[in-house]
Amino acid sequence: MRVGVLTGGGDCPGLNAVIRAIVRKGIRVHGDELLGFLDGYQGVVDQRCIPLDVESLRGKLPIGGTILGTSRYQPYMDDDGVERVRRCYADQGLDALIVIGGEGTLGAARDLSDDGFPVVGVPKTIDNDLAGTEMTFGFQTAVQICTDAIDRLHTTAESHDRVMVVEVMGRHAGHIAVWSGIAGGATVTLIPEEPFDIDGVCDAIRRRHEAGRFASIVVVAEGAVPVEGTLDIGDAGVDEFGHQRLGGIGTVIGAEIERRLGYETRVTILGHVQRGGTPNAYDRVLATRYGVAAIDAVHDLAYGEMVSLSAGRIGRITLQEAKDRGLKTVDPQLYDVAQVFFAV
Ligand code: F6P
Repeated sequence: MRVGVLTGGGDCPGLNAVIRAIVRKGIRVHGDELLGFLDGYQGVVDQRCIPLDVESLRGKLPIGGTILGTSRYQPYMDDDGVERVRRCYADQGLDALIVIGGEGTLGAARDLSDDGFPVVGVPKTIDNDLAGTEMTFGFQTAVQICTDAIDRLHTTAESHDRVMVVEVMGRHAGHIAVWSGIAGGATVTLIPEEPFDIDGVCDAIRRRHEAGRFASIVVVAEGAVPVEGTLDIGDAGVDEFGHQRLGGIGTVIGAEIERRLGYETRVTILGHVQRGGTPNAYDRVLATRYGVAAIDAVHDLAYGEMVSLSAGRIGRITLQEAKDRGLKTVDPQLYDVAQVFFAV
């Protein structure tokens, strides 16, 4: 078969591992020809693609980012987008397209499938917020990067008797925050699922100081929200794709802690460092399992489906079901575990 591959949306560690697995099994086992489309769906509508063979993926397993490039563009944004996708399938002789992406990219894959295009999805995001799968690759690497950063912040916080606020990514789910908060021994962790009260945060830090512990780490998810009416965090509006602009709440919280308590406070926004660099072993393995399953799905003609992890095993669900399941938020049981260690 002649199979296209694209990576869409924000990049994450492990994308190259998925591509490598698709190519290796596709060529060696199924006798496929593989084409890599550049910059997500943009490369499909523009018909910009490169042949993918075993040699072109050699050495790419541990490399972060995506050798194909990525973009947030979707064909449904343009009046002639879907028609150009149709032309691409015909001109390139495509039998199927494997789409590796998050919520937006896979949503467009679902729409393409509804419009009759043979498509298979692979879920990715450092945020781990897709309810269609138990785990997305890239997440564990991001958590490790945050945990390493928190470990480093602990030592400088202790030297200076400071409060350190660490803002992490995750959009409207607090998975990265709660995992790295537990792993890094945070004093308090704030997540979007549990609106926070700044009074409570300050009380916790004050209690700690009064008990003789002068350094505190506050982990804040970028999408954390205060209890209504308790703190003005501003509104940065939405971007060109209609996504709420996030990033910067850590600065507001840091200033408020210092103003209310008088304790010297510093803010670190980890930002895109969380998405960069080499995937850890877990993400390499998960990405490889997804890639192998995706090319097998193509040969099973499982179009309109996405590979997913369930009870530790790789299976498939429809892209429609993945969309219907929506956002995966933090399990309250896990947040309860984090809270046991708040300010003690
Ligand atoms: O969805 C992945 C993610 O890294 C989010 O955690 C973050 O809010 C967003 O992407 C950042 O997007 P961009 O790379 O467009 O700034």
